[in-house]
Amino acid sequence: MTPISILPTDRVFVLTGAGISAESGLPTFRADDGLWAGHSVEDVCTPDAWRRNPALVWEFYSARRTAGAKAEPNPAHIALAELETLLGERFFLCTQNVDDLHERAGSKRLHHMHGELNKARCEDACGRAPIEDRAIYGSLSDVGRCTCGARLRPHIVFFGEIPLEMDRIQEEIEQATLMLVVGTSGSVYPAANFVHWARQNGARTVYVGPEAPLNAAAFTHVVEGKAGAVLPGLFSLYGSGVKGQGSGVRE
Ligand SMILES: NC(=O)c1ccc[n+]([C@@H]2O[C@H](COP(=O)([O-])OP(=O)(O)OC[C@H]3O[C@@H](n4cnc5c(N)ncnc54)[C@H](O)[C@@H]3O)[C@@H](O)[C@H]2O)c1
Ligand SMILES: [Zn+2]
Repeated sequence: MTPISILPTDRVFVLTGAGISAESGLPTFRADDGLWAGHSVEDVCTPDAWRRNPALVWEFYSARRTAGAKAEPNPAHIALAELETLLGERFFLCTQNVDDLHERAGSKRLHHMHGELNKARCEDACGRAPIEDRAIYGSLSDVGRCTCGARLRPHIVFFGEIPLEMDRIQEEIEQATLMLVVGTSGSVYPAANFVHWARQNGARTVYVGPEAPLNAAAFTHVVEGKAGAVLPGLFSLYGSGVKGQGSGVRE
């Protein structure tokens, strides 16, 4: 397909979902069975699940940590890190993913709106900063306590909770002239609304994934394909192609 032009005046906002990590071997949420890695969201990823069975929640996220540590960034993660290198402050990446594949590919202007797998935070939200935590917990008694005495919970934003730093996200969307959305089903809110906010501001909106998302009608371009195959050649910057896998700008 013809590459999509990025002009010197463009500001690019990227939203990624579970699909961008699929080619790295991490299962998406709704895959075929409506389960995430064999579990229903209600059992492992809601405030109620945490209250009912914190041991199961930590067991689930410990397994996600094990899988995440084995996975490697794929050409889609790398293409976005390279695009950031070329655009600098005109680039912002917001991910719904809790894995760290974007940062391991080199992304820096990056925000994890649904939290991070390798962190933990106070369940009472006492105000202490989240801590780095890569532990694989075998039992709840192994999980540490916050300095206030409350239990530590995964840093993850559970379904039903408000995503992190929504103000910053909204500011970035308001400034964006081009929104790229990759590998998300358009079913988790408020992320599924970002494309509508961008369109209201007149931005071009591009979706990349193997099938059209639920909110496909709001996109000016839908590119059907796997992220790792499509992203490395998707954009042309000031008339030059932008390629992934360390190749920089194509002359
Ligand atoms: N890796 C992770 O961190 C991870 C994994 C699963 C779920 N989650 C969480 O669950 C929620 C699920 O929502 P979601 O919309 O991100 O995921 P989703 O599972 O609802 O949707 C995944 C989307 O990715 C697409 N997809 C599949 N393979 C792809 C590929 N190779 N390239 C591009 N797209 C591909 C599918 O067509 C689908 O639309 C997220 O909010 C996230 O926090 C995170
Ligand atoms: Zn605390």
